[in-house]
Amino acid sequence: MSEDQLREVVSALRESRKYRFVCEDTLRRIAGWAAARHTRTKDIVKAAKRKLHQAYGAYLEGFDPAEVRELVDGLPSDPPADALRETCLTILGRHASTRERMAFMEQAYAEVFRRTGRPKVILDLACGLNPFAFPRMGVSKSVRYHACDIDSRIMLAVDAFFVRVGVDHDAVWGDVLVSAPEVDADVAFLLKTVPCLERQEKSAAVRVLREIRARHVVVSFPAQSLGGRDKGMHEHYAKEMKEIADELGVSADELAYPSETFYLLTKT
Ligand SMILES: C[S@@+](CC[C@H](N)C(=O)[O-])C[C@H]1O[C@@H](n2cnc3c(N)ncnc32)[C@H](O)[C@@H]1O
Repeated sequence: MSEDQLREVVSALRESRKYRFVCEDTLRRIAGWAAARHTRTKDIVKAAKRKLHQAYGAYLEGFDPAEVRELVDGLPSDPPADALRETCLTILGRHASTRERMAFMEQAYAEVFRRTGRPKVILDLACGLNPFAFPRMGVSKSVRYHACDIDSRIMLAVDAFFVRVGVDHDAVWGDVLVSAPEVDADVAFLLKTVPCLERQEKSAAVRVLREIRARHVVVSFPAQSLGGRDKGMHEHYAKEMKEIADELGVSADELAYPSETFYLLTKT
């Protein structure tokens, strides 16, 4: 694909209502993927949109990032703990992925950090709304929180949130398949995103997990489909996780909750 055609495809994607908030690196990467399969610009754009839907659009259904931003903007600077926890619960309830985790997230974070030790630096990749679980993580405000996602609205809301709460942070609008996180962390999260990355690039999970500079990485998978039906998902992802851990040469300890299974990967 010529540079001109690439520009044309990327601007067509950027003009679409659904994908205008996706970072440039992702649009270019997916345009390149589509161009390897089609020649006419129209077909490249169509294939790229289909891929973007799988990678990102599907997760946005029924979710309005503008509402999240309003809730963050309604928080005072250095909010009282109760108000902060309540607002964050409301925000977490706005997206299916974090909503499903709400019932057990405090327990899950407590168990993870009991095993890893309290982190000083957290890395949250493809974070979605997970940074809003911060008040329920049981970590101190002196932690440094690095978060990244391809959606600019999410990252701007995360940035505004940590500014208000007074937590040292980085909110990066970026693609983990294009730039590796340049951070040394104690614990990294890659929650419910491995299937989504694998749909974008074969063996993406192993590549990304290799690039993460953290002793402990928490990877999670949904344990049931969004409709609540269990289609043998736990077994399916347990097998996938084992293959990934074997390839990386790390151990993966399982922590199972009703709708999500966490794996704690520890590099030795
Ligand atoms: C299923 S959601 C999970 C969100 C969050 N980690 C959680 O568990 O609540 C997948 C997230 O991955 C993000 N994403 C998809 N592809 C990405 C990529 N290549 N780089 C960074 N983020 C990506 C999407 O924007 C979306 O927020």
